[in-house]
Amino acid sequence: MADGFKAEWPMDLKAPPESLEAKQPRPTDIGRDVVDPSRYYSREFMEKEWTHLWPRVWLLAGVTSDIKEPNDYVVFTHGHEQFIVVRQSDGSVKAFFNVCPHRGNRVCMNDHGSVPKFSCPFHGWQFETNGKLHRITDEETFDAGLIAHRPGLTEVRCDVIGGLIFINMDGKAPPLREWVGFPEGYIENYEIEKMNVVRHVRTEWRGNWKTGVDAFYETYHLPHIHPQTQGVMEDFSQIDLYPNGFSRMIVPIGVKSHRMSDQSSIDPYQQHMMMEAGIDPAAFKGTAKEVREAIQQAKRARGKRFELDYYDRLTDGQLTDSWASGYFPNVQIGMHPEGVFIMRFTPHPTDPERFYYDNMTLFRHVEDPGYSVPAWMGLPEGVDVTGEIRPEVEHYAIGDDVDLGEVLNQDVELVHAVQEGVKSRGFRGPIWCEQEDRLRHFHRELDRYMNGEK
Ligand code: FES
Ligand SMILES: [Fe+2]
Repeated sequence: MADGFKAEWPMDLKAPPESLEAKQPRPTDIGRDVVDPSRYYSREFMEKEWTHLWPRVWLLAGVTSDIKEPNDYVVFTHGHEQFIVVRQSDGSVKAFFNVCPHRGNRVCMNDHGSVPKFSCPFHGWQFETNGKLHRITDEETFDAGLIAHRPGLTEVRCDVIGGLIFINMDGKAPPLREWVGFPEGYIENYEIEKMNVVRHVRTEWRGNWKTGVDAFYETYHLPHIHPQTQGVMEDFSQIDLYPNGFSRMIVPIGVKSHRMSDQSSIDPYQQHMMMEAGIDPAAFKGTAKEVREAIQQAKRARGKRFELDYYDRLTDGQLTDSWASGYFPNVQIGMHPEGVFIMRFTPHPTDPERFYYDNMTLFRHVEDPGYSVPAWMGLPEGVDVTGEIRPEVEHYAIGDDVDLGEVLNQDVELVHAVQEGVKSRGFRGPIWCEQEDRLRHFHRELDRYMNGEK
């Protein structure tokens, strides 16, 4: 057996350069800027984001598995804007502002569904699912010239990559494929289009949306806020910065943190992961350092058994580790072969110190009694994982009693405390270390938009 897992800073998993896992060189101009903390609470900054940032970027609006059939739709809310994303009869996907051209009412009141036509609840105007006007109620009572252009739903740009649907409010932004900073295959290899949303929680948090992004963009805080992860997760992540503000951290899973002195005896969390991968921990002869590799081999064999061909395009590391992938500006996806966790940090319509945290858990169902949802996906009991029923979005306001799981509950409290602190006269701005390079990269790209460079 190999000599086990090593964690040294800077973390480099030593994948060959042609591999998607390869460590990206640290930019020489990464700098040492300290940003002005007012970006986390100022109304002026928030308003400028609405003129300089949000209309110009591609926003993750949903996943294709939510709209499998023609006329299936999902509604995506971003601040005061709302969009309907709908599958067309030719299989393509279109998106529209969820706004009726008559008097501005919301046309679609549900989070998702399927309809032959959209019908505005206010006065009953109807629209085809391709956005065209179908019928105006009492049309003869309108001046013919006023409606001669047959007002339909206002379309926005929409494109799909690897099962992820993005929209863009700006006609001039580059095409999605050019804009996404990850190389070809990076997203596609996980086959997210074959995964289904099995849980969707939308909670309101007390913080700026960037306070949220920052908190999930590093594992530097793991030993302090989430010490329980140390038995099964390394907190030195491989940090990779990609073009256009995109970034990744590879979080090695199945290993003990290098901060734990005992690297030989196997942690109970590790044992649990081994069992889930089909390894009997009692028969395992290796040390804690060798567990990650053993799980990889077991998953590789299981992938073959279940004919999961996409495993052939994934590295051994991808079979255990989380590729926490940052999609500029406001999405992080924890990518795993069994499923992905989509986190979306969307701004509050009016308050710079609130945001919505959308958390979608997607799972790839395998029809076999020997295959089940791993415990680390944290799904509550009784959730349907077959993909046959799209769960309703669970909405929670600040102060509602919601259990997001142990780790996320800790993050909620953390974000609230940080939001309080960044407003203090005593705080001079964040001092980021190399483990926080992704934050630096994210804020630099943000500044390019805010300064009108993009
Ligand atoms: S606002 Fe939609 S029909 Fe009047
Ligand atoms: Fe955290």
